Amino acid sequence: MRKKYVYDLPTRILHAGLGLSTLLLLLTAALAHLFYETGSIRHDLWMIHIYVGNIFLVFLLFRFVYFFIGPAHSRLSDLVKLNAWKAIVVSFCGKKARGPVNWPWGHHPVASFFYLGVYAAFMIMGLTGIILTRIQFDQGLVPEKYYDDLTWFIELLRTHEYIAWGLLGFTFMHLSALFYHRIKDKVPVFESMKSGYQYRPGANNEEDQN
Ligand code: HEM
Ligand code: HEM
Repeated sequence: MRKKYVYDLPTRILHAGLGLSTLLLLLTAALAHLFYETGSIRHDLWMIHIYVGNIFLVFLLFRFVYFFIGPAHSRLSDLVKLNAWKAIVVSFCGKKARGPVNWPWGHHPVASFFYLGVYAAFMIMGLTGIILTRIQFDQGLVPEKYYDDLTWFIELLRTHEYIAWGLLGFTFMHLSALFYHRIKDKVPVFESMKSGYQYRPGANNEEDQN
């Protein structure tokens, strides 16, 4: 089996932080909806949601910085795979029989397209989240004058809600795709975000060490 170190420790910590906080944010919001609207349990659950939301924002900020200063496979440029996307579209539209997508070291070319969407979604969630925090709970970074300002409240809440559904859908797709490659290609794909190493069938060559 060929093996290469692709994702360094900060990239893995930031992935774990963002993934875990997203799951906790989905959970706290789902739980809050189970309780009486003006009750204290629901209020406490929203307070936990906002607390986790702030931690999520710190991870997101560091991830954006790392997009520009991190190693090759952690950079934003590694997520934009124009040539690979073009080749996939051309082979999809063409009459020739389609082979499997070529997945070199680093992100899977199809997955990287979705990861870019996830980071855009994260930004919108952060922005709508901090505005809602001021409107509903009179807390956070947004100026105090927006407390109880209902002008765009419904639009902000619906945007926040629909993207949350999208992120839940992405999580299922993400894990299913990883399981699919684990079983089909018989390579330990989960390892790359655990130990940092990616594996491919065949014997190691010199290029894999770079
Ligand atoms: C148990 C849960 C999870 C596991 C085992 C896992 C595993 C992985 C692995 C192995 C990769 C690298 C795949 C590749 O090279 O293309 C990856 C990347 C990624 N995952 Fe996850 N993931 C999990 C949960 C999540 C969740 C909940 C989210 C967000 C909703 C998420 C978002 C991402 C993103 C954005 C990337 C690209 C990372 C980057 O370069 O910044 N993951 N994940
Ligand atoms: C991936 C990130 C996030 C997810 C998945 C998420 C999920 C949700 C969901 C599903 C709701 C319920 C929407 C509804 O009632 O229709 C909600 C509401 C809310 N979220 Fe988030 N959220 C995220 C990030 C944040 C952040 C970063 C903050 C602020 C720091 C935040 C603050 C709030 C507030 C204030 C509400 C409204 C509570 C209310 O209705 O009283 N969220 N969130």
